Amino acid sequence: MKRAIITGAAGFIGSHLTEKLLAKGETVVGIDNFDPWYTPRIKKQNLSSSLKNESFSLVQEDLLSFDLSSVLQKGDVVYHLAGRPGVQDSWGSGFSASVENNILATQRVFEAALESEVQRVVFASSSSVYGSSATSLSREVGPISPYGVSKAACEQLAQVYRFRGLDVIAMRYFTVYGPRQRPDMAMNRLFRAALPGDYVFPLRGTGAQRREFTFVEDIVDATMKAGSPDVQQIAEPFDIGGGVSASLSEVIEKVERIVGSSIRVDLQPAAKGDPLITVANTEPAQKILGWQASTELQDGLENHHVSMLEALQLTQ
Ligand SMILES: NC(=O)c1ccc[n+]([C@@H]2O[C@H](COP(=O)([O-])OP(=O)(O)OC[C@H]3O[C@@H](n4cnc5c(N)ncnc54)[C@H](O)[C@@H]3O)[C@@H](O)[C@H]2O)c1
Repeated sequence: MKRAIITGAAGFIGSHLTEKLLAKGETVVGIDNFDPWYTPRIKKQNLSSSLKNESFSLVQEDLLSFDLSSVLQKGDVVYHLAGRPGVQDSWGSGFSASVENNILATQRVFEAALESEVQRVVFASSSSVYGSSATSLSREVGPISPYGVSKAACEQLAQVYRFRGLDVIAMRYFTVYGPRQRPDMAMNRLFRAALPGDYVFPLRGTGAQRREFTFVEDIVDATMKAGSPDVQQIAEPFDIGGGVSASLSEVIEKVERIVGSSIRVDLQPAAKGDPLITVANTEPAQKILGWQASTELQDGLENHHVSMLEALQLTQ
């Protein structure tokens, strides 16, 4: 029986991946320590429907101390999504959490996966490895934040373990949005600042910064394709981006139109380590994975809005 092992299963992306793999009939083991970086209550809610599924089991453990090889079996596919995301919190003393939960945890996952002869590890890297250097002409890795450095180190670890025989594929996710988006992320904050309440959106910089926003279902689709035995192992990380970039100002306008009210904004200086633009090259993902993002930003935002309303229990 094919098994999927998902680290970070209770998180934003991990919980969607868990649901999709269960819906496909797979047996899923989720591993998460319910890190209190943001409230574990949200993470419990993220897993509420999966926990009712008999094919799902949850291991509530910290990858930094847990012996993952005690769970892994030969032939498993490991989706390693656990980590400490977030550029801003990786500065200063926050870097130790990035080092521990990204670099150290990933090295432990790769080591256990190699020992257990799993079929493949697919892991979550980030567009942050590029910093500002990803343009349509250049794809140089050049992080400009400590978080980006930690993800670039994970990619190098993947290379090291690949040389030792581990089948491992890196996915560089570009700004993911959609239902259950982490509370620190822009779309979630924008909706909160447009919906009734006191929350004010801290607009860092001019709003001209452009991102390839990628809907979470598209991210999950790409990640599952990378876990398929039909896809050959590939050393080059995949860019997984939404296909069209939009500025933060454009997103603000769209959110205001969807909600039907203005966003409460507090203008602040530009954030450290925030690239002006991110550009994905999705050609390799199209050719090798047969994947292309299919969700328009407008549709994804409307979907995100509905889920925010549900979460805030504003719907009837
Ligand atoms: N959301 C994005 O836009 C985005 C973009 C690029 C890359 N990524 C990467 O994708 C992955 C998932 O991101 P997300 O937005 O779903 O984040 P998330 O914080 O919602 O999910 C991460 C999960 O990992 C768990 N975790 C953290 N450290 C752990 C540890 N030591 N042991 C066990 N569990 C641990 C957390 O409790 C959390 O539930 C992360 O690796 C992140 O860096 C996310």
